[in-house]
Amino acid sequence: MTDTFYITTPIYYVNDSPHIGHAYTTIAADVMARFMRLDGREVKFLTGTDEHGQKVAKSAEAKGIDPQSFTDEVSERFRRLVNPCGSVMQNASNTNLLNISNTDFIRTTEERHKKAAQALWKKLEANEAIYLDKYAGWYSVRDEAYYAESELIEKEGKKCAPTGAEVEWVEEESYFFKLSAYQQKLLDYFEAHPDFIYPQSRFNEVKRFVEGGLSDLSISRTTFDWGVPVPGNDKHIMYVWIDALTNYLTSCGYPDGEEMEVFWPNTTHIVGKDILRFHAVYWPAFLMAADLPLPKRIVAHGWWTIEGEKMSKSIGNVLSPDDMIEAAGGVDQLRYFMLRAMPFGNDGDFAQDRMLETVNADLANNIGNLAQRSLSMIQKNCEGKVPEYSFENDEKGAWHFSNEQELLNIYNTSGSYLHGIRRVISERDFRPQPGVRYFDTHILDFTQIIQHAADKNAYFQHKEPWKLNKTDFVEFQTVLYITLEALRAIGIHLQPFCPTIAGKLLDQLAVPEDERMFHHLTAEYALKPGTELPKPEPLFPRLEKKQDAA
Ligand code: MSP
Repeated sequence: MTDTFYITTPIYYVNDSPHIGHAYTTIAADVMARFMRLDGREVKFLTGTDEHGQKVAKSAEAKGIDPQSFTDEVSERFRRLVNPCGSVMQNASNTNLLNISNTDFIRTTEERHKKAAQALWKKLEANEAIYLDKYAGWYSVRDEAYYAESELIEKEGKKCAPTGAEVEWVEEESYFFKLSAYQQKLLDYFEAHPDFIYPQSRFNEVKRFVEGGLSDLSISRTTFDWGVPVPGNDKHIMYVWIDALTNYLTSCGYPDGEEMEVFWPNTTHIVGKDILRFHAVYWPAFLMAADLPLPKRIVAHGWWTIEGEKMSKSIGNVLSPDDMIEAAGGVDQLRYFMLRAMPFGNDGDFAQDRMLETVNADLANNIGNLAQRSLSMIQKNCEGKVPEYSFENDEKGAWHFSNEQELLNIYNTSGSYLHGIRRVISERDFRPQPGVRYFDTHILDFTQIIQHAADKNAYFQHKEPWKLNKTDFVEFQTVLYITLEALRAIGIHLQPFCPTIAGKLLDQLAVPEDERMFHHLTAEYALKPGTELPKPEPLFPRLEKKQDAA
């Protein structure tokens, strides 16, 4: 049976328009999903919108619209970034702006979700993990979180959440989840699963938090009604986080959907560091209490600043995904830059000058240049066909027979840098190989793809095919063939990161659509001399610095 892989993004609050933080999580998840597919795994990939709770209800109220119409509208702003997976609202553009390969898009206002959330609640109740009491304490609507008095900080003479958000005092009847009963169980689970949370520094923070003691968690509200009703007592609606976290199960058809068996046990959640506690403490405790398997891995990423500053509406530096794509010169370039610029787990800065330099250096001047030079030379001199090659001629200088053979074979699975990338991806996934130390920093290590292109550019430059053309046509063709095969490997490896342009590159090499998986990175699928190639087109145009308006 094929290995399965289930990857999720957080579901996004619909109180706001999409911005860089949402784009990043979604892109990172997409790269993993595409990688796993190319590596032969069956992938389920979920994203969507979180539509209940006080924050969303208040935003709707401020706009003077009923919450359902409000969420219908804002949810579409998120859906247009990804694969819509189903109906889009009338007049909404269905653009898949970020080129995301999600297989489902969930809204927590859907009927299937209400059913799953209520089923989970009933299970928790049946297992005696829930009781009715009264809550009196602090709540932050912005964070949709309860805070203990001891966690609060002072800001401008007012009590605030540790995140800086406003808090209000709440007193109401509430259902509680017996979180305190899970402290030791969670610590034991962490001990037994040292790869449960990535990166390690975040895992340590989570452990410290749990070691500090857990109080029971209020999981229902009575003072507003925008949420999933508590089964059997519809004076209460569920606390938005228990509702929201259940979305990951809803998509698998919980309680009895087939995907609960096929995909759920192979889950990876990607989340921002601010919401790790909900995923790494509350969620595993809910799942344990409901007798369900826990996700395999939770991966937490850092936060973006923009040109060195925290993103904020009042500073006016909030970039929409449309703005970012435009600034990057295209969605593939944006995807590339975002993953390249931010060491995974750390914070990163979205600086446009740096983006321009990275895109030009790695993509335009390196990969784009190699493709453009070799393919146009082939059009001109080889009747636009994949050239013949020969290793007979080994007399000339440093790049002789054995090196060329080696150069040609570099992409073969046995010696491929695919292993390196696979290792890095696996670490963020859940198949750590014992005894292997992973090289780190970037979520997915592109450097080897870029290095391969740089090596081949150097080779090309050294061989001077524009001269060989007149002096040694056999050698000329061989150099071009080797370059083309390198481009085939580069194109195949690049697909998860820059899917459209990698696809175009492979089209220009006439690589059949069904020969673009990682297992096709062998000599058996090498380009066939004589194959007709389409007319080359530039892949990555160079970005020019925009002059500030005078
Ligand atoms: N609705 C909850 C998640 C529920 S999941 C069951 C939520 N939504 S959110 O829209 O506020 O945030 C979604 C994600 O965006 C979070 O992972 C958060 O970390 C991420 N980001 C928001 N701003 C960000 C940056 N400036 N930089 C990076 N990511 C940030 O929380």
